[in-house]
Amino acid sequence: TQQPDLVIVGAGLFGLTIAERCAEELGLRVLILERRHHLGGNAYSEFDPETGVEVHKYGAHLFHTSNERVWQYANRFTSFTDYKHRVFGKYQGQVYSLPMNLGLINQFFGKSHTPDEARALIAEQSSEIATEDASNLEEKAISLIGRPLYEAFIKGYTAKQWQTDPTELSAEIITRLPVRYTFQNGWFSDTYEGLPVDGYTAWLTKMADHPNIEVRLETDFFAVADDYKGKVPIVYTGPVDEYFGNSEGRLSWRTVDLEESVVDTGDFQGTGVVNYNDQEVPYTRIIEFKHFHPEREKTHLPGKSVIVHEYSRFAEEGDEPYYPVNTADDRAKLLKYRELAKSEPMVLFGGRLGTYKYLDMHMAIGAALSMYDNKLKPHFTEGAELT
Ligand code: FDA
Repeated sequence: TQQPDLVIVGAGLFGLTIAERCAEELGLRVLILERRHHLGGNAYSEFDPETGVEVHKYGAHLFHTSNERVWQYANRFTSFTDYKHRVFGKYQGQVYSLPMNLGLINQFFGKSHTPDEARALIAEQSSEIATEDASNLEEKAISLIGRPLYEAFIKGYTAKQWQTDPTELSAEIITRLPVRYTFQNGWFSDTYEGLPVDGYTAWLTKMADHPNIEVRLETDFFAVADDYKGKVPIVYTGPVDEYFGNSEGRLSWRTVDLEESVVDTGDFQGTGVVNYNDQEVPYTRIIEFKHFHPEREKTHLPGKSVIVHEYSRFAEEGDEPYYPVNTADDRAKLLKYRELAKSEPMVLFGGRLGTYKYLDMHMAIGAALSMYDNKLKPHFTEGAELT
């Protein structure tokens, strides 16, 4: 059979963006290899057959961006609803509106504050430790927002996320802990925000819907690598350490266990995401998917809802890698992998797994558009070398 012009490993947003651009704009024949049974990477979702609720299978995905080009690009494949994401947090029997804002401060301290009074209060409480003296995450957080807010809203949640006491975590993990001295409680502050009207899978499928793109599912690149390595250009979006047989050691990741259930109530928690800040509660969050799409109310089965409890932990071999842990040791390994990657002929590494970076969806699309502009297009149109 005829070789494709380009092989892409991974049908996530990064790989799909590269594929779409190369097929549509350059007329290349693109083969995408995907080891899962579906395309879309971690943004993939399914409509639950019983309740009609769209469930994001790899954790809640909310689209937001301030990048005009990425927004225009995404809108070629889907329209977006006007959903605005909000997050609430439970702590000791009360529900607070996050991120930390004037409403939360007033409720937590049991008294109304003007913005200036709240600012003065937090400044005084955070003066206990100077930020530059902080030697661990706990001290850093206290130096930014003071001990009371830290103990309620950061300590337990962070300990559960990392399965590590915050005094044992590096101060570097947090750079800022934004506190808003207004009642504005939108979770994102980007220009554009919304959810794909017909769901994520419809959007992602449309990106690959081109006569020059073939998506081969349930195909692990490593099983067929000899057919393509060194023979055709490859864009690899799988884990960079795995590509090199973990020769420099494994990069460490956190994963999330997602426990999905259908509950016998039409409304379990009144909103999409509730964080659980108490350390004794074993899960970090509960997602209730129907609230992401209030406009679909008529298509949802009454009296039932789909919820997911999330539990965070370090990823073991075989777990889905979700968030890079990024210790000093990981960074040293990554530098070695980057050197190896540079000298790998005709292979470009991209996406969150290929670069060992947490990327939001809009960042994955943006990075793929840049790789297309700066590397693939010059290679295929002017014969520039692929490095
Ligand atoms: P992605 O991981 O999606 O795709 C890589 C693909 O490569 C996978 O399908 C994998 O199976 C495949 N692959 C790997 N190795 C292979 C091999 N050897 N052979 C064949 N295929 C192989 N973003 C956002 O904007 N808003 C949000 O709310 C969220 N929420 C969120 C929650 C959680 C829990 C996570 C982990 C992530 C998010 N994200 C997010 C981020 C979003 O998921 C991310 O931006 C995209 O998945 C990035 O797309 P990639 O294509 O880089 O990777």
